[in-house]
Formats: sequence, C-alpha cells, structure tokens
Amino acid sequence: MAASIVPVSLNERSYKILIQAGLLRRLGTRLDELGVRGKAGIVTDRNVAQHYLHQLVHTLKRSGIDAVPIVLAPGEQSKTLDTVEHILDVLARHRFERSSYLFALGGGVVGDLAGFAAAIYQRGIPFIQIPTTLIAQADSSVGGKTGVDHRLGKNLIGAFYQPKEVWIDPLTLRTLPMREWIAGLAEVIKYGIIADEKFFSYLERTMPGLRKRESATVAAAVKRSCELKAHVVASDERESDRRRILNYGHTIGHALETLGGYQSLVHGEAVGIGLVQEADLACYLGLCDRSVVERIRKVVQAAGLSDRLPPWQSAKIWKAMLHDKKVSRGQVVGVWPERIGRVRMMPIDQGSFRRWHQAVHRGSSGGRPFQTRAVVRKK
Ligand SMILES: NC(=O)c1ccc[n+]([C@@H]2O[C@H](COP(=O)([O-])OP(=O)(O)OC[C@H]3O[C@@H](n4cnc5c(N)ncnc54)[C@H](O)[C@@H]3O)[C@@H](O)[C@H]2O)c1
Ligand SMILES: [Zn+2]
Repeated sequence: MAASIVPVSLNERSYKILIQAGLLRRLGTRLDELGVRGKAGIVTDRNVAQHYLHQLVHTLKRSGIDAVPIVLAPGEQSKTLDTVEHILDVLARHRFERSSYLFALGGGVVGDLAGFAAAIYQRGIPFIQIPTTLIAQADSSVGGKTGVDHRLGKNLIGAFYQPKEVWIDPLTLRTLPMREWIAGLAEVIKYGIIADEKFFSYLERTMPGLRKRESATVAAAVKRSCELKAHVVASDERESDRRRILNYGHTIGHALETLGGYQSLVHGEAVGIGLVQEADLACYLGLCDRSVVERIRKVVQAAGLSDRLPPWQSAKIWKAMLHDKKVSRGQVVGVWPERIGRVRMMPIDQGSFRRWHQAVHRGSSGGRPFQTRAVVRKK
C-alpha cells in the first residue's frame, strides 16, 4: 500500500508527513530524493534504540550514509539543556556540517531535543522526525515546536524549527508500553474537541478498538490528528493566536505535570485530566453546557485515562500555571470548549480559578465530588 501523505503548508518551509505501515524498512528512495549524503546523526533513547536503531542504521548504510547514533536516557528527565549540549558535542566532534542531517527516532522527548539541537547547531541543520510514540505521531512531530524543560517550567526554552519531513510508521507503535499508549490517546481526543466534532464522534464509537491498537483505527486516528494539526499550524506557524487552541487541556495539564515532578504523571496522562478539568472549568464559567464536559469525560475514561484532579491546593496549581508560557500580564490565557469541535481563548484570573477549585472540592460545579484517588498507575 502506498504511503498516505499529509502536506504541511508553510511557504518555503513546507513539508510532507508520510504515513505507512512498514515505512521504516522502505526509506532508501526517500533518502536519495532528499539528497541525504555523507553522515547523519540519529538521536534516540535506549528503549527505542533496542527496537529500531539497528534497522535505521542499516537502511542508512545501504544508501551509503554513515550513521552516528546518539542514544539518550529515556524519559522527560532527559529533556534538558545538558542533553542538548551533549548532542551538540557529538555533532561537533564528528565535524557535522551545515548540510548534515539529524534524525529524531523516538517519542516527543527525543523529537523536541533533536529538533532543538538541529535548530541551533551551526544556526540550523536539516532534521527529520521519525516518531515512535502515539503522542509523537499524532502531535509533537508535526509543527516545528522544539525545546527543553527548565526547572521552573516545562518547555520554557526552545525554538520554532520545522523538520524537512516526518516519517510515520504506525507499526512502531506495537512495542509501546500500555501506559504510554493510553497517554497518547489524550492528544488524539484533544483534536476532536478543538477542531472536529465528526472525528470526536468517531473516537466515541471506536475507542474500544483504538485502546486495543486495531491497526485500521490507529492509522485513521493518527492521520486525522496530523491533518488537523497541520491545518492549525499552517494557519499560525508561530503561535501568535490560533495555534494556541492546540494548548487545550495543557494549561492545567502542564501544571499537574510540573507539580508531579514529571514523574507521577506522564505528559498525556496530565493532558487527559486537563481535557476534562478545563471543560469543567469552562462549564463553571458559563462557556459551555454540562453535556460537553460529560462527553469529554466519557471518552477520556473509555481511553483508560484518569479524569480526576490530584489533591494539590488551588494556589499551588495556579502558581504552576503561571510559569507556563500561556500567561499574559499575570492572567492565564485558557482555551475553553464552547461545544465539541469548537473552542475559544479567554484569560482567567486567580479568583475565578480558586472559586472553581473550591466548587470541585464540594462537588458543586456540577461534576462529580472531588475524590483523592492515587493517580500513579502501574505500567
Ligand atoms: N513539540 C510539540 O509540539 C509537542 C507536542 C506534544 C508533546 N510534546 C512533548 O512530547 C513529550 C512527550 O512525548 P512522549 O509521550 O512521546 O514521551 P517520550 O519520548 O518520553 O516517550 C515515552 C516512552 O516511550 C518509550 N518509547 C518510545 N517509542 C517507543 C516504542 N515504539 N516502543 C517502545 N517504547 C517506546 C520511550 O523510551 C519513553 O520511555 C513531552 O516532553 C511533551 O512536552 C511536544
Ligand atoms: Zn501535549
């Protein structure tokens, strides 16, 4: 079967997303067409390397390209400036040039790190995303946001830098641990909420199959997510306005992720809670009907994600939200659903947030009473 192609239209920075089962084994012609020559770096992590590094190195070798693997420790804790420095060291030691390619083989962490290193090494070398997690295939590999975390906030340091191409092989998702798989479903659900009610209904119907990784459903969900992201990014590459709708679920989500030290909740798990709780907050603010919250809650639960706010104090969550980039003059600019498939942006102040948070505790925001359930699930 031929690869599906999703174009990302950004003038001279336009590129293609190729989606095809087994693509990883069929890259030879693409490498020739793109003019990849000499040596190429492969940034990956130990888990991904174990499954796919050998295959990629072999493919590159067959095309006469010397691979320089840079294998990192897995996980969000690696998403630091120190790691970027390590990548840059390797590139410099191997005398990488302006035209040398860098491949990001892995999840969102590897993609964000490698993309940022590619953006700043010699002021920019070409890079290709080969995403291997659901989050990365459906979301992070598309759009050109690259960067690292700072101890005071997630993704505080970074650059917009577009890849030359994105190569998605859905077969790589088979080896993804269950916890990471389920976490990725949160980003997929997000697309339905922000931009496509029909896709959201599709997810409501197919979630049991998606949860079991049925290949046709997975391929359809990845493709539609890429199309929706490509569309939003093309309309606003540098997040001046419309692109911010992609942050839905991430205002509270990122705060929870930071408060948990990036460990108790992985990114998608925090976003899953954010999807439901931000809808609940929108409902509290009178921006949407309770039925919107309940539809979102149902799909999030069907995906196997938690929808409950962990027991942190409102002031603590607010403080973590203020460290996020979505802050403008002390107010947090949130993304709120009006109905499924349509969101709006609006600032919220601390008082409203605190009142909502108290209401959640008392169970009077219309949702279920707040319960402190352990949010750490076993893999
Ligand atoms: N740039 C963007 O636009 C954007 C968008 C969304 C998320 N992100 C970022 O992405 C990160 C989260 O991405 P993630 O969930 O992919 O995390 P990740 O890269 O840490 O991957 C999750 C885990 O899965 C393992 N793994 C990856 N692929 C595998 C495979 N095929 N088989 C087995 N194991 C595999 C990894 O080693 C890791 O342990 C966060 O840092 C988030 O900020 C960026
Ligand atoms: Zn995300």
